[in-house]
Amino acid sequence: MNKLLVILGAGGHGRAVADAALKMGYRTIVFLDDRAAGRCIGFPIAGPLDRAEALRDGKTDFVIALGDNRLRRRVAMGHDLPWARIVHPSAQISPFAELGAGTVVLAGAAVNVCARVGRHCIVNTGAVVEHDNVLEDFAQVAPRAALGGSVRVGALAQIGIGAVVKNNVAVGMGCVIGAGAVVVKSTEPGGVYVGVPAWRREKGAAV
Ligand SMILES: CC(C)(COP(=O)(O)OP(=O)(O)OC[C@H]1O[C@@H](n2cnc3c(N)ncnc32)[C@H](O)[C@@H]1OP(=O)(O)O)[C@@H](O)C(=O)NCCC(=O)NCCS
Repeated sequence: MNKLLVILGAGGHGRAVADAALKMGYRTIVFLDDRAAGRCIGFPIAGPLDRAEALRDGKTDFVIALGDNRLRRRVAMGHDLPWARIVHPSAQISPFAELGAGTVVLAGAAVNVCARVGRHCIVNTGAVVEHDNVLEDFAQVAPRAALGGSVRVGALAQIGIGAVVKNNVAVGMGCVIGAGAVVVKSTEPGGVYVGVPAWRREKGAAV
């Protein structure tokens, strides 16, 4: 591939994205971060996030590696850049699935047939996005979480680590599904849901 990737965010998720990108064949990585300087897993942190436009040269790809969905959206809205899709080579992506620009799929995850994953989503390590799922923009599925067939995940929603969402259920925009929850009924926008079966713990942040 012989290309440079600029990763916006040098935290834990940024390092996981770098690891996947190198395995995809990116030649080298440059990080940008507002809070860190120096080097990150051996690659330079070349300044704050707003330096991204200055690194645009027609040959370089960009990806936002910020785990906070709203922050990721804010950064994406603030920059018009060639956003890459980063897919770890061990992930299983159906040729009949769609991945939006800026989306990251990490090691061992599966995105099955006719699933549609929007822009700047995260499908984390070992997560399962089953057939006919729709993940709207800036949604996130944490490690080992599993979505049954025809699940819809609203924009900015977060499915927690190891959570399960039953087939045909809709997770509302901006919902947070807690670690290990089992969602058996559709959830209201902006709610925080925990437990088995999942119940609404409180009103979440306004979307
Ligand atoms: C649900 C969640 C968002 C709540 O976060 P929070 O508002 O900071 O909640 P707190 O840690 O203050 O816990 C508040 C209460 O909820 C309970 N709780 C928290 N998470 C829970 C979960 N996943 N399932 C059941 N109960 C949970 C706590 O035990 C605590 O109960 P208490 O008041 O009786 O002591 C969070 O715990 C969670 O599960 N996040 C998912 C994290 C994740 O998947 N990360 C992946 C990163 S790759």
